Amino acid sequence: MLVDRALSRYDRVRSFLVTCVASDDVLDAYNDLAYGATRVYDASAPEFRERLFNWEGDLVAQVFPPPPGRVLVGGAGGGREAFDLVARGYAVAAFEPSAVLARSMADRAAAGNHPVEVFLGRYQDLPMLRQVGTDEAVDLTKGPRFDAAILGWSSFSHIRHRQERISTLQRFAELTDGPVVASFFIRRESIRPRHKLSRWAGRAGLRADGDRFTPHIGFFHQSSADELAAEVAAAGLVMVASSYNDTDGYWPWIAVARPDVASAAAPSAST
Ligand SMILES: C[S@@+](CC[C@H](N)C(=O)[O-])C[C@H]1O[C@@H](n2cnc3c(N)ncnc32)[C@H](O)[C@@H]1O
Repeated sequence: MLVDRALSRYDRVRSFLVTCVASDDVLDAYNDLAYGATRVYDASAPEFRERLFNWEGDLVAQVFPPPPGRVLVGGAGGGREAFDLVARGYAVAAFEPSAVLARSMADRAAAGNHPVEVFLGRYQDLPMLRQVGTDEAVDLTKGPRFDAAILGWSSFSHIRHRQERISTLQRFAELTDGPVVASFFIRRESIRPRHKLSRWAGRAGLRADGDRFTPHIGFFHQSSADELAAEVAAAGLVMVASSYNDTDGYWPWIAVARPDVASAAAPSAST
């Protein structure tokens, strides 16, 4: 128990220090290295996961317009969601910041003749992305509009700053005449008082409550339900459906839309 407690303390201290001092560029580079080396996300590896999780299949059935349609997938990894959505009858444009993963997705799309357009880029770049291989700039606003969009599994939580989370939702909604879905790491109301160092770091603007770092997935931000609702409102969008169920086999997600398409996007449903 002592070793376990010491390790857990070490983990918390490292997470605190890294989220205080690491620059955005360092955390971006760390993300791309960590995910680029994780084989379940690499479409060229035998371990690649290529199916939607059950909770994702349910949410697509609940909030997406029926196929055919055009779907935008961000934080796409090697294309797990993209290839499954194609199998369900959608055309997909997908982007990912890790060059290794984006390349693996592009190669798999080409080899299988799948209707997936693959780009390189991160949420902060939108609407400008790059072609895989040539690095040629692509402006998504110049292409056909999307009927639905999804920020790949928990990738929303890798966005480091509140204003960037708000602009990401806005940019997705500007490109999409339907629901925009994001899954995320949830933060339940803490019953423990915050450590005074943590309060100080927050006041000094070094980090925000909910910011975390693990060597496994790099930086991530745990969002509370209230915080998300405020970010959606600040983006000028409407929450059309949501689930905060994080029990085994589920993952919390929200579906948002521009007010002018919200009523068509989905019936309101919360679990
Ligand atoms: C948990 S993985 C999910 C990958 C894929 N969607 C899947 O489920 O197989 C999270 C993905 O988000 C990507 N990501 C991290 N930060 C991002 C950002 N700022 N913009 C877009 N994607 C990002 C990572 O590179 C990683 O591929």
